[in-house]
Amino acid sequence: MSEQKNLPVPDPGLEEHEHRFTDVNEAAADRAYRQIVGMLAAVPVLVLAFLFVYFGVPKDAELVLFGANLQMQTTLLGLTSGLATLMIGVAAIAWARSLMSDEEIVGERHGAASPPEARERVLADLETGIEASGIRRRKLLGTGMAGALGLIAVPALVSLADLGPWPTPALRAETIERTLWAEGVRLVNDVSYLPLKASDLEVGQLVNAVPETLEKIEDGTAFQQGKAKAAIIVVRMDPNSIKIPDSRKDWQINGILSYSKICTHVGCPISLWEQQTHHLLCPCHQSTFDLANSGVVVFGPAARSLPQLPITTDSEGYLVARSGFTVPVGPSYFERDSSKDFKEGDR
Ligand code: FES
Repeated sequence: MSEQKNLPVPDPGLEEHEHRFTDVNEAAADRAYRQIVGMLAAVPVLVLAFLFVYFGVPKDAELVLFGANLQMQTTLLGLTSGLATLMIGVAAIAWARSLMSDEEIVGERHGAASPPEARERVLADLETGIEASGIRRRKLLGTGMAGALGLIAVPALVSLADLGPWPTPALRAETIERTLWAEGVRLVNDVSYLPLKASDLEVGQLVNAVPETLEKIEDGTAFQQGKAKAAIIVVRMDPNSIKIPDSRKDWQINGILSYSKICTHVGCPISLWEQQTHHLLCPCHQSTFDLANSGVVVFGPAARSLPQLPITTDSEGYLVARSGFTVPVGPSYFERDSSKDFKEGDR
């Protein structure tokens, strides 16, 4: 009592505990139980619906909802997986609020270290908790929750298929390692699409170019993908001021050379050209390539030389490709073979 008097606010003690309706009414508890099981039972149905939509609804099908045009498959996938997750969440909350033990427990303060008896008590409490959750008496709850949690992983696993097909060598050769460049394809200005004539280029000049075949691609996605891989720069340097290895002697015309415009670090487009040093600087992370030395890296995080496109002129004096790129353009990827990349000292 004297201790109580020294406290600024007297200890009010615990309020009288009010029992929930489901604690005092067995019928209400059974009703809550059925509702929870019903929600968990909806999860397999929703997962099946997800799989049906994933495999059965065409990716380009549309759905008009409240006047808005939506992609049907994406919308239905979101709805089914979202509802399944919601069902599990609501069932867990309802279970905790209406069926799990509602007893108030007073915990006495004690030292930070747990004595062995305390650990034993924890195990005993755990046992009591399992008992209080009603899982032993109402077995479907545990099975339903475990089953629902297991099934909710299915949509996530199935969606992994959207990462694309396995990148076999044949598939890579047809996609990521192939560009629009081929023997005899003219180099054209990337804005006007006018072909580039060797005699029109001046020493020190840089032109952004693309293959002439790009303009004919009508499909927007194919056009952008084609351009992203085939974009090049064409530079003219004094032939006496550059190093041309024997293996690349006929890849250039009077000091006119062509390189991929895509940085080999992580793929930014590059065209910051320093005329005096012949260096090409990537604006993203400052990788610098020496265009007077087969595009080797002289600074920065890029690990590979800039791929060079072998070029020549046709009978009218226009620049054309001698072949496609001899190595894949752009950043590295796990399966890429780097043995054919040009390295300092190669001849
Ligand atoms: S993308 Fe060019 S340096 Fe990083």
